[in-house]
Amino acid sequence: MNIPRAVAPCVDIVGWGLCLPPAELSNADLATILDTSDDWIVRRTGIERRPISHVGVSQLAYVAAAHALACAAMDPDDIDLIVLGSCTADDQMPNSASAVQRALGARRAAAMDVNTACTSFMYSLSTASALIKAGAVRNALVVGADTLSAYMDWDNRTPSVLFGDGAGAVVLKACDEPAGIVAEVLGCVTSARDELRINGIGSKFANAGLMYGTTHWDFNGPEIFRQAVGGMAAAAREVLAKAGVASADVGLVIPHQANLRIVEAVARRAGIAMEKVFTNMQARGNLSSASIPVALVEALAQQRVAPGSLLLLPAFGGGMTWSAHVLRWGKRTTPLGTSPIRLPPCERTALEIVAALRASKGSSRPSTPPPVETGRAPREGAVHPAPATRSHAAPAQAQCASNDIDGT
Ligand code: ACO
Repeated sequence: MNIPRAVAPCVDIVGWGLCLPPAELSNADLATILDTSDDWIVRRTGIERRPISHVGVSQLAYVAAAHALACAAMDPDDIDLIVLGSCTADDQMPNSASAVQRALGARRAAAMDVNTACTSFMYSLSTASALIKAGAVRNALVVGADTLSAYMDWDNRTPSVLFGDGAGAVVLKACDEPAGIVAEVLGCVTSARDELRINGIGSKFANAGLMYGTTHWDFNGPEIFRQAVGGMAAAAREVLAKAGVASADVGLVIPHQANLRIVEAVARRAGIAMEKVFTNMQARGNLSSASIPVALVEALAQQRVAPGSLLLLPAFGGGMTWSAHVLRWGKRTTPLGTSPIRLPPCERTALEIVAALRASKGSSRPSTPPPVETGRAPREGAVHPAPATRSHAAPAQAQCASNDIDGT
């Protein structure tokens, strides 16, 4: 019997692009609003500055996606599927992938969001590759984008020095030659779920008299550090074994850019020299879902990715989710074209954007506990969301409206 071929043997990355907002927040800027210093931040994290967005997440995603399509010389109408990995989607419903789909004019594309916090792009990559390999779609646009600045607790010096905003995108296409994901491992450390939480986002806060967007973080830095090092190093070793390759066979490691000390510890434990590890957190901070795709695009631009080479991509995020991928890069490392699409100009400095975000949220420490979640009481010392007030809510909504990708 002749069984029709429903599966693609391999999935190549044929296009890539990024979008970084122009306003940059330096460590010196942060020291004007927080009890911190450039010296402390550089010593403990390696981060010197980070981009802060004046637009919403779907707009960053749209610009990155347009560049990835131009790089692949593909038309938006060619795209079968858009997967947006993000934990700061513009809306819960409708999803933000559909905003990217509409802005691009990708009329034939299905659109879905994936949220696994900082690993969202990697989970999106796995999802889209699997759908192509299964024959459900022929190609996919995969985007990782986050604007954690909008949800940042700017009065808490621990998380607020770490994150930046941005988007990175790739175009995946079925192919017959060996390329794309060679092996992948995905997982989640449930015992660490409460160590990293943004309070104020999600339906459990919706009818509790709390302002959506009043975002106070539960953030256990040292525990996240420990989990990230152990989780990414173990995942890296596991995926290399699954792929049947040694660390010496890897051409470049592009890890989640959480913290330089985390990345150095992971490399040490996985037996990989730092010369083989790409880092950009010095200028980008931790871009959450955009961290790895932006680093990948920058590594390509700096000719750090050789045609046909193996890449190792370990990642970690809230949940706490973890992943590691071994990718075989295809033949082409240069774009086929470029896109004229840009972000609207930014009239404000990063510090002015942050000042507006702080003002719209208010800065008083809340005393009301959050709605009870099944199973576990809040950690001692955790900070909880503030009660809603009309005067706080109005500016935040105005900002969302102006951030909307198509002004609707
Ligand atoms: N500036 C100055 N001092 C600070 C700051 C700051 N920004 N943040 C914390 N401190 C202080 C603390 O209050 C503490 O002071 P104390 O000794 O008087 O109590 C001291 O510095 C040491 O604090 P630690 O939390 O032990 O410092 P650590 O070396 O662990 O660094 C950090 C903190 C940078 C958050 C680190 O734990 C880290 O990077 N953790 C991983 C977090 C992360 O990357 N998360 C990203 C999201 S999840 C993901 O992407 C994987």
